[in-house]
This record gives sequence, C-alpha cells and structure tokens, in this order.
Amino acid sequence: MRTLLLAATLVALAGMPASANDQALLKDARDYFKPIPSIVPAVKDNAVTREKVELGKMLFFDPRVSASHLISCNTCHNLSMGGDDNLETSIGHGWAKGPRNAPTVLNAVFNKAQFWDGRAADLKAQAKGPIQAGVEMNNTPKVVEETLRSIPAYVTKFKTAFPNQTQPVTFDNLAMAIEAFEATLITPASRFDQFLEGNVTALNATEKEGLRLFMDKGCVACHQGVNLGGEEYYPFGVVEKPGATILPEKDRGRFEVTKTADADYVFRAGPLRNIALTAPYFHSGKVWDLKQAVAVMATSQLGAKLTDKEIDAITAFLVSLTGEQPRVELPILPISTTETPMPK
Ligand code: HEC
Ligand code: HEC
Repeated sequence: MRTLLLAATLVALAGMPASANDQALLKDARDYFKPIPSIVPAVKDNAVTREKVELGKMLFFDPRVSASHLISCNTCHNLSMGGDDNLETSIGHGWAKGPRNAPTVLNAVFNKAQFWDGRAADLKAQAKGPIQAGVEMNNTPKVVEETLRSIPAYVTKFKTAFPNQTQPVTFDNLAMAIEAFEATLITPASRFDQFLEGNVTALNATEKEGLRLFMDKGCVACHQGVNLGGEEYYPFGVVEKPGATILPEKDRGRFEVTKTADADYVFRAGPLRNIALTAPYFHSGKVWDLKQAVAVMATSQLGAKLTDKEIDAITAFLVSLTGEQPRVELPILPISTTETPMPK
C-alpha cells in the first residue's frame, strides 16, 4: 500500500507542470550557467585519445615523477577526496609547506586558465609547474625523462600514445598525456545540472531559494559559466578587504604575473563545482566552513550582510553542485630498472 502511494506521488510529481516560479528560475539560471557535459571535452592542440589518457593516468599516479619518488599528482589532488588534499596549504618535498591551497583538478579543464592567479594558460602548461617546484615535487625535466626512459613499459606507452615521433618520451609529451587524462576528470549530473537540464524537482525549496539569492545578490557576476567561476579575475576584497588572516599580505595574486598595480590582490574567481568536497577555502585555505566562506564573499565582494537564513540557503545551493565523481581504476605501474635514477 505504501509503495503504491509512493509510486502514485512520484507519478504525480513527475507529471506536475513546473510552477511559474520554477520556470522563471530555470530561465534565469540558463542565462548564466551551463551543465557539465557528460562526454569528455575536446582540448586545444591536444587530441584526447585513449592511449594518451591511459598514459596520463599512470603519470598522474606515479610518485617517481617527483625527486623523492614519494609524491605524485594524486598526493595533493587526491581523486578519492574531491581532487584536492583538504589541507590549508599543500605539503610537498621534504615536508615543505607551500604558500597556497590546492584547487581541485576535477573539471579544471573548463577553467579559462590554471592556478589561483591564472599564470598557466592551460593544463599542459600547468602540469610542468609542480614537477619542478621546490616545495612540490622538486624534480627537473631531465631527470623525469631519464626516469621514464629507463622503464621499458613507459617507452612503449609513450610510443603508442605519440606515434611517428622519433623520441616520444619527453617532458612535453608527459604534460600532454596528463592533460588528456585530466580532461576525463569531469563530474556531470549534479542535482544542479539535472535542474539546468529541465528537471525542476532536482533541487529542493531551500536550494532553489539559494540559487535565486546567488543570482539576485550578485555572486553570479563573478561565478558563472560551466564551473561557476574559473573564468575571470577580481580583487579579493572588491568592497572590503578580508582580514590579513584570510588574505595574507605576502601573496599579491595576479600582481606577480602582470606586475601592474591594478592586479594587486587580484585572484581568479574560484570555480565552485564540488565545492562541498574541497574545504578549506580561498587561496590561503584559512576558512574551513563553507557557510563562513559564503559570508566572507558577501561582505568582501558585495558589501552585503546576509542573514543566517540567506547564508544557509546559498550554502545548500552550493552543496547541490557536487557531481558524479570520476570512477578511476588505480593503474598498476611498471617497476624501476637499474637504469632508473635513485630517489633523492
Ligand atoms: C605538493 C602538492 C602538489 C602536487 C604534488 C601537485 N600539485 Fe597541483 N596544485 C597544488 C597547489 C598548491 C596548486 C595551486 C598553486 C597556485 O595557484 O599557485 C595546484 C594547482 C594545480 C592545478 C590548477 C587547478 C586550478 O583550478 O587552477 C592543476 C590542474 C594541478 N595543480 C594539477 C597537478 C598535476 C597534474 C600534478 C602532477 C604533475 C600536480 N598538480 C602536482 C599542489 C600540488
Ligand atoms: C567581484 C567578484 C566576486 C563576487 C561578486 C563573488 N565572488 Fe566568490 N570569489 C571571487 C574570487 C576572486 C575568489 C577567490 C578568492 C581567493 O583568492 O581565495 C572567490 C572565491 C569564492 C569561494 C571559495 C572557492 C574556493 O575554492 O576556495 C566561494 C565559496 C565563493 N567565492 C562564493 C561566492 C558567493 C556565494 C558569492 C556571493 C555571496 C560570491 N562568491 C561573490 C570573486 C567573487
């Protein structure tokens, strides 16, 4: 009897015409946001082939890309935990604490440029950074190439992924393969995506109210597109600078990239997909509670003081942005040989 009733309710709900409010909300949302596609997106200047993806996955998980043979991309971008490390700022070579919070690699392919300050144009340019950074993997392109060339199974994989090249095992090709793998790390079908695709019952009343507030209060001015952010740069503290704890004085953001005064404390608007999985927040990683992050944004970027109820609703909406996590089978990596450079 209960199941019958439930079934009847579901049929009634599914068949229910969307209310005028829902229609308007959907229409407005579609003006600003796009769903995550369910198929792997194309990448500029790098055809995403099965062979490259497979190789890129191995490299993403291989700690021998780091000088210590201990740290892989997955150490700081843990694909079991939302694609980041859930630390304030990352810990790399020799337990060195880096200056910034690690953003997620999930859906990073949709960002206009990579890093909090956008200093890498795309994922292939990005991947070369951490391998060489002293506080991350502390390696050199030369040693990475020697390492990969010393392992026959890698030589074969590079040949298959990059056919017709006389020496395919290069640092550049490593970056291309990692980029191809990262393009597969997308998270479609969040409840918000289902809403955008026309299922107005996918969000509950509080989440809908949050979406409405997100648009009407002005968050959407900076957080829009597929990733609800990741597209443009803005001062952190348009109206009011958050305190030095959240915005440490030393990190001047895009200023270090452009060296122009107007880029002082300017950062890329954070992409908000899967944001519930990627605490702590901001480039400083100082805020652990998503509600507090929303409140900080309201005062610093909009000069608005939101009520607790409004903050709760916006936060509920942000939680609905969690999508289907990529199911990645752990790669089995080929063993080192006597030719492989020793860990340092
Ligand atoms: C020691 C930790 C650490 C390791 C190892 C590491 N990363 Fe990162 N990653 C970070 C941090 C921290 C940032 C942000 C740095 C910044 O903005 O200046 C970052 C940024 C990124 C971004 C940019 C995302 C965005 O939204 O802007 C991508 C993509 C990425 N890393 C991929 C990789 C890949 C691929 C590897 C392996 C080759 C790797 N990372 C290794 C910590 C790490
Ligand atoms: C003027 C542009 C602007 C507006 C308006 C704005 N933001 Fe942001 N947002 C940013 C920037 C820039 C960052 C990155 C800050 C940093 O450097 O850590 C950010 C970061 C965030 C983050 C943290 C992302 C992360 O991965 O740590 C959240 C959450 C967020 N914004 C939500 C909101 C909400 C909710 C609103 C509306 C109340 C809003 N934003 C309004 C520009 C803006």
